[in-house]
Amino acid sequence: MSVTVTFVTEKGERVSASAKAGDRLLEVGQAAGMPLEGTCEGQMACSTCHVIVAPEWFDRLPPAVDDEEDMLDLAAQVTRTSRLSCQIVLNPALDGLEVRIPGEAVDMQRR
Ligand code: FES
Repeated sequence: MSVTVTFVTEKGERVSASAKAGDRLLEVGQAAGMPLEGTCEGQMACSTCHVIVAPEWFDRLPPAVDDEEDMLDLAAQVTRTSRLSCQIVLNPALDGLEVRIPGEAVDMQRR
């Protein structure tokens, strides 16, 4: 079963992407042309994969582990519903998920 995800760009454009259960949101976003660098490839060491989850979806995601929270503390433009897209694995319950791409990313590995 496919899972449809909508990305909202910095300019407010809505881009929908079709993914499979088990795909990581990071790769789905990259395939859809979103500027998610994902420099550390999911090691929770860069925060360039930061996305802002639509509030109505935030509580439906499994909670962030401490390492993810720590990395989000360092990301740019963090909000209450921020997550690292490399930590979000899609499943059918997330069909319709909507996330916003922040305008700026901080790569902690380049500091
Ligand atoms: Fe680096 Fe997600 S890809 S923290």
